[in-house]
Amino acid sequence: MQNTTSLNFYSFNCRGVDYLKVFKCKICQEGYLGDAPPTHCPFCGAHQQYMIEARDFKLPEYTLTDVSRRNLEEALDLEVSNAEFYFCAADRADNVADATMFKRLGKVESEHASTIVKELKKQSPDISRDRDMCSNMNLDNLEESNQRETNAIRHYTRFLGEATEDRIKEIFTAIIEIEKDHLSLTDGRF
Ligand SMILES: [Fe+2]
Ligand SMILES: [Fe+2]
Repeated sequence: MQNTTSLNFYSFNCRGVDYLKVFKCKICQEGYLGDAPPTHCPFCGAHQQYMIEARDFKLPEYTLTDVSRRNLEEALDLEVSNAEFYFCAADRADNVADATMFKRLGKVESEHASTIVKELKKQSPDISRDRDMCSNMNLDNLEESNQRETNAIRHYTRFLGEATEDRIKEIFTAIIEIEKDHLSLTDGRF
C-alpha cells in the first residue's frame, strides 16, 4: 500500500515536468523554464508582458540612430555605476534583508548593462564588486539608492522621448518600469 502511494506521487511529479515551458525575456533575452511566465524577469526585472514563449521570440532588426547610440552609451555608464554602488551597499548593509536587496539590485543593474551592450553590439564592461563607492551607513545607502533610481528614470524618460526605433522605445519603456519598481523599495525608508 505504501509503495502504491509513493508511485502515484512520483508519477504526478513526472507529469508536472511535462508541462514545463521555455520562456524568453524580450528585453534581456535571457531564458526562463517554468509552467507559467514569472511576474518579473528573474534577470532584468522586466514585467510579465515581456516574458514570451521562446519559440515566438524573434530578434528585431533595426538601425540604431546616432541619438540613440549616444543615449545608450550614457545609459550604460549609469547602469555600471549603479551596479557597482549596489554591490558596495550589499557588503556594508547592516541587516540581511537590505544586503539581499542590494545584491539583487546589483545583479539586475548588471543585466541592464548587458542588455544595452547587446543593442550597441559591443563587449560587456567590467563591473567591480568591491569598489569603494558607497557609504558605511546603511541608511545613507538607502537614500542614495532612491536618488540613483530617480536620476535613472529621469534620464531614461528623456532617452525614450528621443528614440525613433521601436526596439529602443521598448527597452527604455521596460527599464523605466523596472527602475520605478526599484524606487518603491526605498521610498519612505530614510
Ligand atoms: Fe529579462
Ligand atoms: Fe534600478
